[in-house]
Amino acid sequence: MLYNLLKPLIWQINPETAHNFVINLLKTNLLNIIKSKNPNPILKTNLANMVLPSPLGLAAGFDKNFEVFDKMFNLGFGFVESGTVTPHPQVGNAKPRIFRLIEDEALINRLGFNNDGLVKIKENILDKFDRFALNKLGANIGPNKNSKNRIEDYIICYKSLAKISDYITINISSPNTPGLRNFETSEIDELLTEINKSRINENSIFVKLSPDISNKDLEISLQKIVQYGMNGVILTNTTLARPNFIKSNFLSEKGGLSGKPLLDRSKECISIAYKLIGRDIPIIGVGGISCLDDVLSYLNAGASAVQLYTGLIYKGPKIASNINDELAKYLISNKISNISELVGINH
Ligand SMILES: Cc1cc2nc3c(=O)[nH]c(=O)nc-3n(C[C@H](O)[C@H](O)[C@H](O)COP(=O)(O)O)c2cc1C
Repeated sequence: MLYNLLKPLIWQINPETAHNFVINLLKTNLLNIIKSKNPNPILKTNLANMVLPSPLGLAAGFDKNFEVFDKMFNLGFGFVESGTVTPHPQVGNAKPRIFRLIEDEALINRLGFNNDGLVKIKENILDKFDRFALNKLGANIGPNKNSKNRIEDYIICYKSLAKISDYITINISSPNTPGLRNFETSEIDELLTEINKSRINENSIFVKLSPDISNKDLEISLQKIVQYGMNGVILTNTTLARPNFIKSNFLSEKGGLSGKPLLDRSKECISIAYKLIGRDIPIIGVGGISCLDDVLSYLNAGASAVQLYTGLIYKGPKIASNINDELAKYLISNKISNISELVGINH
């Protein structure tokens, strides 16, 4: 309610400035007043080797520098993925580089892995170590744009973060780092071979894919992700596609599109994945989720857990706790004892 009143004001401000303002506000504890109650225990979800209080997580990109993940657990997210982090600090692309497509409940961003780099981010995590022990933190990793050896960048990030996070996501699908998506197809064997050689513990490694990959290549990549022993796949990152129903004038801005217009394609990728790999490894669904029905449709398509980012911008800080409450009610009234009963029932 309050957020809906404030939204027109916040939207006078440039999106990146508004984002930085919110991150700083979250850091001050002032927003502790909107701390949500713990998710209903019926939402407890197994994901790879983790037990989550809710299957609804925060997607990568909101907490790029691992500054506020502890605060996001308080808002009801069952797990939080921070990053993308690269070995060295990186400023990213020229501003402006985030655009609100308000009519479409969407965003376009071309940030380009702006982040404070591994050294600072490690400090930020260790600073909060005791406070996140009970909640699950994912570290999303990527290479520096001008790196001479991108695979080595992934390994450096993996080795430094595997022991101080609960899972690692290998991001090979951002559209804003030229050439990165080659790791989804032609360079995937080399990358996953090296990752496997470097494994230092049992913590899960997820691979995040793009919605723009062809269905055939998606199937090939998924098979490899399973064969190489990865523990999960995140579907999907933002899209370079511009569906023809988009109304906003920002349509022609370059970058990755997120939010509502992405929902159908991400869900299609999940269906393709579930049909191919079933529950061999879990699928984490992300793209345009903003309400209970979206979550249910993702679970039914085959996702074991879901994430959102753009929905938070449009629906406000209570989105996770509201969806948790509605999901718990849905399970109880339909006599469903666990989220896993909903996974993949479309197939
Ligand atoms: C502003 C912005 C920045 C993002 N940065 C990252 C990132 O650094 N790494 C990543 O893997 N995904 C990033 N994403 C993609 C999201 O994690 C998510 O996959 C995508 O936005 C689809 O979900 P949504 O429609 O709920 O936002 C970003 C998305 C947005 C909107």
